[in-house]
Amino acid sequence: MWRTCDRSILAPYHLLREHGRMEVHYGVLDGVEVAEPRLTDGVVTLRLAQAGDRAAVAAMDEDAEIRRWVEYRLTPWEEAGNEIAYLQMMWSLRQGVLFTILVDDELAGLIEVEFRHPRTARVHYRVRRELRRRRLATRALRLVSDWVIDELGLNRVEVWAHGGNVASQGVADRAGLRREGVLRQATGFDGSEAHDKVYFGRLANDPRPPPLKP
Ligand SMILES: CC(C)(COP(=O)(O)OP(=O)(O)OC[C@H]1O[C@@H](n2cnc3c(N)ncnc32)[C@H](O)[C@@H]1OP(=O)(O)O)[C@@H](O)C(=O)NCCC(=O)NCCS
Repeated sequence: MWRTCDRSILAPYHLLREHGRMEVHYGVLDGVEVAEPRLTDGVVTLRLAQAGDRAAVAAMDEDAEIRRWVEYRLTPWEEAGNEIAYLQMMWSLRQGVLFTILVDDELAGLIEVEFRHPRTARVHYRVRRELRRRRLATRALRLVSDWVIDELGLNRVEVWAHGGNVASQGVADRAGLRREGVLRQATGFDGSEAHDKVYFGRLANDPRPPPLKP
């Protein structure tokens, strides 16, 4: 089944984000049996975000870089609770998933996957300020990309990065997604200031990215 609807009907989270009408994509995982995912490469572990993560997520989100690059309208505490609840619901509908990035059993960041038609997963990520530049986001995006392609059988993993967000683009590049192009001076769907959007993608039949260099 493939249809779109107003996401704000489904969850107050997006109503509160004032994004207005957004598309929700049904059917991307139809027919795919998905075990509850827990992914690890031995350094980072990804597990489903849960209500108990809320305080750690809210503390992480007090960071200026996160507030700059990730769109917010609420306080971090409200936003963290809404985001986790919303994406738990999306996972129950198999429309998206929010993973907590764990290092030594502590929350190091979040990585979110939206399942989109046609057979595409769009990914967003953030890492606690004090743990940056250790390739944690790169590792998380690699794990998610492999899971989406190898386990879920989707065709495409993509990242849309703000033209000014060098760190986000670096993560997509290091994780083995190909830089596909720039949408110049594009406007966000929420009417935000026009800015360049840089597109990265990995297709199921692209060569696998080489292992991370130490
Ligand atoms: C973007 C973000 C998740 C990166 O997390 P991270 O774990 O520090 O990233 P990595 O260590 O995996 O970096 C991978 C590459 O990105 C680039 N990079 C990362 N941070 C960078 C920075 N501050 N400046 C320049 N390049 C940077 C580098 O090329 C790096 O590779 P290298 O280590 O081989 O040089 C983190 O900076 C963050 O949470 N930012 C705020 C939220 C955000 O912008 N999210 C993305 C948009 S939603």
